Amino acid sequence: MAILKIRTDEDPILRKTSRPVEEINLRTKILVKDMIDTLHKADGVGLAAVQVGVLRRIIVVETEPNETIVMINPEIIETAGEQDGAEGCLSVPGRRGAVKRPNYVKVKALGLDGKMHEYEGTELFARCVCHETDHLNGILYTDKAWKMLDDEEEQ
Ligand code: NI
Repeated sequence: MAILKIRTDEDPILRKTSRPVEEINLRTKILVKDMIDTLHKADGVGLAAVQVGVLRRIIVVETEPNETIVMINPEIIETAGEQDGAEGCLSVPGRRGAVKRPNYVKVKALGLDGKMHEYEGTELFARCVCHETDHLNGILYTDKAWKMLDDEEEQ
């Protein structure tokens, strides 16, 4: 088990575009395991590889307890509806902002098994997949927040 250091918002790596994974090898598997350990330790619902300093298109999503979904080279293929709600990020500690996202997302991605899988979901799942795939393109939720909520909450 390895807990990786989570990069925070002043780190320029978070603004870079991650590259596709071309081969799922032992190194990929170790990275994913470490990402899951790091996500659990941080008590988060999603993590992108760039957040631990690796510019590869890998995200892990855990919007249901103990149901970790590993998505390699994820691609959102369908969205519908809209939701508006508070969002945070392990790379932007202590802050939250209101962000509009689709209420439904369908995504396709390679799994660690090397096969293509499709996942779909609403609400938190949809929000999380959008947030994490944004990370792969160097986008932080603070770019999209129409209002930061820090001032309204007790620190
Ligand atoms: Ni994030």
